[in-house]
Amino acid sequence: MSTDLKEKTSNPDSSNKDFATLEYQGKKLEMPVITGSENEKAIDISKLRADAGLITLDNGYVNTGSCQSDITFINGEKGILRYRGIDIEELAERSSFVEVAYLLIYGNLPSKAELDKFSTGLTNHSLLHEDMIHFFAGYPSTAHPMAILSSMTSSLAAYYHGGDGNQSEESLELDLIRLLSKLRTIACFSYKKSIGQPLIYPNNKLSYCANIMNMMFAVPTEEYYIDDEIVKVMNQLLILHADHEQNCSTSTVRMVQSSGASIYACISAGISALWGPLHGGANQAVLEMLQQIHESGQNYKEFLTQVKDKKSKIRLMGFGHRVYKNFDPRAKILRKACDRILDKLGISDPLLEIAKGLEEEALKDPYFVERKLYPNVDFYSGIIYSALGIPVNMFTVMFALGRLPGWLAHWKEQYNFDKKKICRPRQVYTGENARPYVPVRDR
Ligand code: ACO
Repeated sequence: MSTDLKEKTSNPDSSNKDFATLEYQGKKLEMPVITGSENEKAIDISKLRADAGLITLDNGYVNTGSCQSDITFINGEKGILRYRGIDIEELAERSSFVEVAYLLIYGNLPSKAELDKFSTGLTNHSLLHEDMIHFFAGYPSTAHPMAILSSMTSSLAAYYHGGDGNQSEESLELDLIRLLSKLRTIACFSYKKSIGQPLIYPNNKLSYCANIMNMMFAVPTEEYYIDDEIVKVMNQLLILHADHEQNCSTSTVRMVQSSGASIYACISAGISALWGPLHGGANQAVLEMLQQIHESGQNYKEFLTQVKDKKSKIRLMGFGHRVYKNFDPRAKILRKACDRILDKLGISDPLLEIAKGLEEEALKDPYFVERKLYPNVDFYSGIIYSALGIPVNMFTVMFALGRLPGWLAHWKEQYNFDKKKICRPRQVYTGENARPYVPVRDR
């Protein structure tokens, strides 16, 4: 394993000669145009306020680049997703989640020796400090596992340094390994706790994904058999979720890191950001939507009519994406995986039929076509999780386990960036002008 934490974000455009000109109040301003390695262009506006007294305003950061990054490339128009230059289709088919985690964090596919060392590290750091086991008792059985995951992750900072600025590179490397390994244990323990079963500790003989299944579904009283096909689909699910450049949770991780906070605090913040229904919570929302359509006996065409009526405020969950204005390549892979795993397990799921029907109708409906709304990664993932026996409230936790290597890769890139600044956006103030304080008796 490489221990080079000092990897630098490349600036493919250091010899930039391209400029964009802005004319404002008779004054012309030249701003450098930055070109990425896939020829993406960005105007560097960092001097705009100093030179012209202007800031840029971009609600939801729809058109704002927050950093230059070497990790993941997305072309939303063409439906391309690559981790460190390698197509997601190839990784999903040929790689494993642990290998992809290495690729994202260290920049290259590992040699056999590097992969062995990395995997051994994950195996050796899977246990939680026994004091932390008592924490689980403090949560009500109804607690959402994302609440437990986020607060337990933050609690890890009480046991380990986590990038407080005074650590050796080796010790920081260990924090990355700890997070990858221990979050899996926390996630599975939170599930066991919620159903009142004894905790199943990680088993060093099992692979990363087989261990997830074992910790969630084994019981001490009997043998638990883990099917290879299930392990394969679990690897695929986690690989497909592993990174997605500057999404809400990853940007959160980078932003919190920019303040110098512990890596455990950064990842905990990322988990909280992921929880929302417009982000990682969408897989849960998709399944609930499908269940609701099924239980109400509603025709899915009627449901789409409701979705298109803006007054209803109902969205077709699992459809649409801020970046993809074409098919999300991950959704294509999962649609096939979904058919394969349901077939293998002999499950005929009416929700899958509803999902396929909704997809077929939506893809030819002008409302969705005009807005370029296609199925995203979450449209089929929930059906697969259900088939594997994973309960709905654990879906977003599974997403978090998958996204973790991406968060760590971005954390590391941000941590090592030599021109790093604390992230601090500006605003356009629209509130009251200066006014006096009025004592309560006079209001
Ligand atoms: N169902 C119905 N209409 C939709 C949907 C949807 N799923 N998504 C977008 N639209 C409509 C909006 O109403 C809007 O219509 P308008 O132009 O008439 O006002 C238009 O399409 C553009 O939508 P925005 O919300 O502006 O697009 P944005 O890029 O901000 O949002 C988002 C992207 C949040 C993913 C959105 O498509 C959505 O809410 N989807 C459903 C939730 C979901 O599946 N989230 C998972 C995303 S993937 C991930 O995080 C892993």
